[in-house]
Amino acid sequence: MSQQKTFKIAVIPGDGIGKEVINEGVRVLDHLAEQSNNQFSFDFDYFPWGCEYYLENGRMMAEDGLETLKDYDAIYFGAVGFPNVPDHISLWGLRIAICQGFDQWANIRPVEFLPGVESKLNHPDVESLNWVLIRENSEGEYSGVGGRNFTGRGEGNEVAVQSSLFTEKGCERVIRYAFETARKRKRKKVTSVTKSNAQQYGMVLWDDVFKRVSKEYPDVETDQWLVDAMAAHFVLHPEDLEVVVASNLLADILSDLGSALAGSLGIAASANLNPDRRYPSMFESVHGSAPDIAGKGIANPIGAIGSAALMLDHLGLKEEANQVNEAIKKATGSGALTIDIGGNTTTKEMADSIIENLHSNVKQ
Ligand code: NAI
Ligand code: MG
Repeated sequence: MSQQKTFKIAVIPGDGIGKEVINEGVRVLDHLAEQSNNQFSFDFDYFPWGCEYYLENGRMMAEDGLETLKDYDAIYFGAVGFPNVPDHISLWGLRIAICQGFDQWANIRPVEFLPGVESKLNHPDVESLNWVLIRENSEGEYSGVGGRNFTGRGEGNEVAVQSSLFTEKGCERVIRYAFETARKRKRKKVTSVTKSNAQQYGMVLWDDVFKRVSKEYPDVETDQWLVDAMAAHFVLHPEDLEVVVASNLLADILSDLGSALAGSLGIAASANLNPDRRYPSMFESVHGSAPDIAGKGIANPIGAIGSAALMLDHLGLKEEANQVNEAIKKATGSGALTIDIGGNTTTKEMADSIIENLHSNVKQ
């Protein structure tokens, strides 16, 4: 028997439903490890960072948080944000601090249409649809450049500057990643989305880099769109989409649209990758902490469990990643559906059904 590999995983459940869905993902991972005949195991360390931690300690994560996390094989993240702390403090203090601190510059967000889940699209064959958004995750509109000033001028006269930062290197690496991703798919196509008619500096640079890089991939079809038209295109012609690459803000918005079209925000998974592997990558569902349903045990864990599958893939456990994705499909196909996707299955029951389907995979 080959020697057991233990993966060290940092778990940050965060806030709201983040805590609920992450538990289910950990259960799925533990089951896979149990089934692996000692081929691999997971060593989970939990970090209580989030809004409660902020209220007690005045910061969203420990001061040496990044230093602590940097030796892990991966980070498994719930969601951050709760009404008791301003959203810009909680997001910047934890999620963006980790993404930018670890240069996780590629955010991979697959849009999957699951059997048994009613899509919001009026399309003859929704289950044939499937595309992946690649979000620039280190700069752009979320580079944090700017400030608020002139409070001394008195009420009604404050000024805020929020600048986007586009670097040629930053654009190039994520665009290249999109082309490499396209090469691994059946249909080799990359669609670039900007708003370069109005954003005439940064996004025109992006467009120029896209054209330059595309020349190195003559086997990959290309397409370029403005984001407003692309929002409509998502709804009207989703069969056109394969790999979609866009800046931090634009892809953030389009990924919520994509997952809502597929049925719910609750089913969308994501990976914040440092493809250079200088730092650990972080895996989290696309949705936030959903305070409106937190604590009720009804949150959909599919996004978090799908993110665990992306983590398995990143750790080299590709077969296990496929197993999880197949189990998710079997579970929804057999009628296990949480409230957001039209059923009354609870968070725990949904994960139970996915785990049962993992077992049935092994027997085959
Ligand atoms: P949200 O994604 O938390 O919720 C939007 C809507 O979708 C809500 O009605 C919610 O109930 C529903 N929803 C989300 N996930 C679901 C799931 N798994 N199952 C069933 N329904 C689900 O976005 P919202 O309300 O804008 O933000 C809430 C908080 O989350 C804020 O503090 C925000 O800053 C934070 N946030 C954090 C993110 C992260 O940690 N990566 C991402 C997005 C928002
Ligand atoms: Mg978002």
